[in-house]
Amino acid sequence: MNSFGLTLTALCCIVVVLGGLPFSSDAQLDPSFYKNTCPKVHSIVREVIRNVSKTDPRMLASLVRLHFHDCFVLGCDASVLLNKSDTIVTEQEAFPNINSLRGLDVVNRIKTAVEKECPDIVSCADILALSAQISSILADGPNWKVPLGRRDGLTANQSLANTALPAPFHPLETLKKKFSDQGLDTTDLVALSGAHTFGRSHCSLFVDRLYNFSSTGKPDPTLNTTYLQELRKICPNGGSTNNLANFDPTTPDKFDKNYYSNLQGKKGLLQSDQELFSTSGADTISIVNKFSADKNAFFESFETAIIKMGKIGVITGNQGEIRKHCNFVNKEFAKLGLITKASVESEEGMSSSF
Ligand code: HEM
Ligand SMILES: *[C@@H]1O[C@H](CO)[C@@H](O)[C@H](O)[C@H]1NC(C)=O
Ligand SMILES: *[C@@H]1O[C@H](CO)[C@@H](O)[C@H](O)[C@H]1NC(C)=O
Ligand SMILES: *[C@@H]1O[C@H](CO)[C@@H](O)[C@H](O)[C@H]1NC(C)=O
Ligand SMILES: *[C@@H]1O[C@H](CO)[C@@H](O)[C@H](O)[C@H]1NC(C)=O
Ligand SMILES: *[C@@H]1O[C@H](CO)[C@@H](O)[C@H](O)[C@H]1NC(C)=O
Repeated sequence: MNSFGLTLTALCCIVVVLGGLPFSSDAQLDPSFYKNTCPKVHSIVREVIRNVSKTDPRMLASLVRLHFHDCFVLGCDASVLLNKSDTIVTEQEAFPNINSLRGLDVVNRIKTAVEKECPDIVSCADILALSAQISSILADGPNWKVPLGRRDGLTANQSLANTALPAPFHPLETLKKKFSDQGLDTTDLVALSGAHTFGRSHCSLFVDRLYNFSSTGKPDPTLNTTYLQELRKICPNGGSTNNLANFDPTTPDKFDKNYYSNLQGKKGLLQSDQELFSTSGADTISIVNKFSADKNAFFESFETAIIKMGKIGVITGNQGEIRKHCNFVNKEFAKLGLITKASVESEEGMSSSF
């Protein structure tokens, strides 16, 4: 092949590869997107979250997770918020989400407060992105300028949620693959996993590590034996797998770098956590060591990674829509509105006929 042919082939490959990626390389997002149209959006979101977190500190972790579970499925388009309906197979019932997602009601409260101040302006996808950043700061975690201007999607995909989101029993290679599928590299994986420095997990998601790991009849050898005894108390063999354990035993609601020293002490809660440090020869080990030693390095990498994550597959401009209610696409919501209105009117009609 001559050099022209080679260049052409190379160009075609680049086009095909970029075209096939699920993330936008030129996301039109801007931290000052609502400067003129809804200048108070940040303080409104903050106020609601601050209020809720006073009685439910775990909510800060739950809201960070919600943004992640949105972005990994059809991009950051608030698809995770869409409820089951005639046209929507909800992601909320996918395995990684069912009996597990928290904060949907808080997002609705935020949306109501934001709509009151600036109706039809702020997308639910942006509310999720802002909520993640505000929650991080309220837990003393990293801070970043949230690029804004996402639009809300018109659909959801439950089976995609089942395949795109990582599972706690995935080997490191699979975790890396799930992240690289989204345009996120190994440093992003290790940094974003650091969000497991706060919040809780159900026993069901790690109980195999405590009693019968990989059908060996023994606990996971990469689990600290002291920590193992503590976890066994929280999650008895054959007991309720609905019990909760803190990701970080020492500062359960703080966003700090303890996650990484926990991994060094073999105190990662999920198999997917401990693998970052205990997979022999893995390139993630040195990153864990760096973040454990240097809080600034961790926070900076987390900020870079979550901004990157927040740009996955975003839709902007006049794509999608600005939802009026985060749980429904506008078309569906209008129908629900009509039904409610019609039933109210018919009730009024009935009472006036007496
Ligand atoms: C690396 C792959 C990951 C896996 C396998 C994973 C898996 C899980 C699992 C199994 C839980 C417990 C759910 C429950 O018991 O209901 C959980 C909780 C959580 N995850 Fe992840 N996760 C991963 C990455 C992430 C990322 C990237 C973030 C955010 C940047 C994140 C943030 C959280 C938070 C904050 C919680 C606690 C939520 C709460 O207490 O409500 N996770 N994760
Ligand atoms: C927060 O709580 C206070 C006191 O409970 C209440 O007055 C205020 O309206 C609440 N703000 C929001 C945004 O929910
Ligand atoms: C949407 O579904 C969730 C459960 O997944 C439920 O809690 C919520 O009330 C529903 N939203 C509306 C507006 O019905
Ligand atoms: C959902 O995603 C899967 C890939 O996991 C794809 O095969 C399927 O066509 C999608 N469904 C819809 C309704 O878009
Ligand atoms: C461990 O699990 C395997 C497969 O699920 C099972 O056959 C075995 O009996 C279990 N061992 C113990 C000690 O529970
Ligand atoms: C296990 O945890 C204990 C107590 O937290 C700690 O002193 C010990 O160094 C840990 N063991 C290993 C192998 O990391």
